[in-house]
Amino acid sequence: MKNVAQKNWVIGNWKLNPLFADAQQLFQQISAEYATLSQGCHIAIAPPMPYVGYFAQQKGGVPIVAQDISTVAELGAFTGETSAKLLQSTGVNYVLIGHSERREHFADDDVRLQQKVKNALAADLTIIYCVGESLAQREAGQALTVVLEQVAVLAAVLTKDDWSKVIIAYEPIWAIGTGKTASPSDAQEVHAAIRAGLTQYTTQAAEISLLYGGSVKAENAVELAACADIDGALVGGASLDAASFISIIHAFSQQ
Ligand code: PGA
Repeated sequence: MKNVAQKNWVIGNWKLNPLFADAQQLFQQISAEYATLSQGCHIAIAPPMPYVGYFAQQKGGVPIVAQDISTVAELGAFTGETSAKLLQSTGVNYVLIGHSERREHFADDDVRLQQKVKNALAADLTIIYCVGESLAQREAGQALTVVLEQVAVLAAVLTKDDWSKVIIAYEPIWAIGTGKTASPSDAQEVHAAIRAGLTQYTTQAAEISLLYGGSVKAENAVELAACADIDGALVGGASLDAASFISIIHAFSQQ
């Protein structure tokens, strides 16, 4: 069971969208409401990498999330890389690690993910660590095992104190961008299993925010928000429209 005194999170993952002028407009729409919306819910936005430093420097305070970081920790002769330390210097305080699209298309295996986790923590970034099973794994009855193994990979590189810098996002791969959402009871089952699993690594399991991601929309957000172990949402497609993103924020808002 989550700590109900804590605020939920709604994080918009813009992925590789939209072009800069549209991104600026979308950011302005969220920014204009941020002071009010953030009273009931933590909000953050993960724009494409080229815009990250720009948005992190805007007044208005919307926290900015990088969608990924390099396995390289520092500065140096690493053409094309974006390190945690460099992002942190632009005002970015959060990073997604282990998104299934990076695992699938960009060879992010457990070893690389563990290195990224270490780099993020060394640069004082808070990690949103993504886990989730494929459709085949779910149909084979392996969802809980797969997800708990992914959490164990994360736990293996964390100290007791690091857990305060970790958010976990459960994103079943078959629900991402497909319009298929896990039913609230299926999502809650996995979230409860993650929470129970976390107790072997930390005494703060009730305080770790567990977000659900995978076709979250205004229409299903209220039901998901009502689940005992769902502490927020990682929203892809629906975060590209300010009105639908704001409706989702309202659904997860505790005021
Ligand atoms: P979706 O993406 O909301 O478009 O399914 C979620 C995510 O990949 O973070």
